[in-house]
Amino acid sequence: MFDNFSQRLYFLKWFFQIRVLGARKPLQTVLGVSDKCNLRCAHCSVVKPLALSTTKTCEQIERELRECFRMGSRFVDFEGGEPFLWRDGTKTIDDLCALAKRLGFFSATITTNAQLPFDAPNADLIWVSLDGVGARFDEIRGQGAFERLERNVEATRFPRLNANMVVNRINFEDVDAVVDYVWKSPFFNELSVNFHTPFPGTESLELDWDARRKVIDLLIERKKKGAPITNTFRGLRGLKDMSFTKRCWIANFVSVDGSFSPCCPGRELGICDRCGFGMATEMTGIYNLSFETILAGLNLRKRNPKVNVS
Ligand SMILES: C[S@@+](CC[C@H](N)C(=O)[O-])C[C@H]1O[C@@H](n2cnc3c(N)ncnc32)[C@H](O)[C@@H]1O
Repeated sequence: MFDNFSQRLYFLKWFFQIRVLGARKPLQTVLGVSDKCNLRCAHCSVVKPLALSTTKTCEQIERELRECFRMGSRFVDFEGGEPFLWRDGTKTIDDLCALAKRLGFFSATITTNAQLPFDAPNADLIWVSLDGVGARFDEIRGQGAFERLERNVEATRFPRLNANMVVNRINFEDVDAVVDYVWKSPFFNELSVNFHTPFPGTESLELDWDARRKVIDLLIERKKKGAPITNTFRGLRGLKDMSFTKRCWIANFVSVDGSFSPCCPGRELGICDRCGFGMATEMTGIYNLSFETILAGLNLRKRNPKVNVS
């Protein structure tokens, strides 16, 4: 995040435009490349049956990236479906990361389920979805999924891996185990925690507020003791009741059907008050120029010193 002088200068200009001139310019883009996936996760509402799935062409993604860049965005996260299944001819998701960088994006990241061997030298960071350890993970993501994840995480040569947990009714008692797993892992740098957001069809997995607050207190305690948790303290506290002023337009969304949303699709669905995305609180932190949030962003793309890439 803001690795050099010109990137920092851009941030200052962007900040001036949003705070002083009142502009609503995105800084980050979440771009869906396909809704094709190799898993059927209990909590997901994105993936379509294979016969109905859509995969964007490289040309379409380039157009979308250019448009997001023109709007102001400089960080892109490629999502799906499963981004590592994406192909256009010989092009892979790694080529999309290289393309984004050529267009001027400061950072390109990928969120994956790690069910296939993966690497993407042009990515700045890969988020691996880790919703539990062992059997609990498989309960959400399907039999054998955890074993495949472990195998592929161990085999990758990619040195900047973070884990991403979505806490729901199935796995809320496993949060401590996931924190320990990431802390001890020689492969992951950090763990980012989100709560299940009740997109249509997945409402029954939403955690009640009491249980959610207990999980957050636990995360705060673990973070105070040095656990590598990406969410900031202020961000975690914000997730307790979502009563902060939301600035979610800082990230825009490009869906798999090609539609642009000026912020998370959850807003159109009217579920912001029950949102569980850690990013929501962190975006408010950016808007308020919270030192803690900026520092967390700066640390995010660090290389894992434990991974030996020769
Ligand atoms: C839709 S998946 C696509 C990328 C990839 N296939 C994966 O599993 O990571 C992107 C992320 O969204 C999370 N996610 C899916 N449904 C969610 C929900 N209802 N609330 C919060 N996060 C959700 C997933 O756990 C995953 O970390």
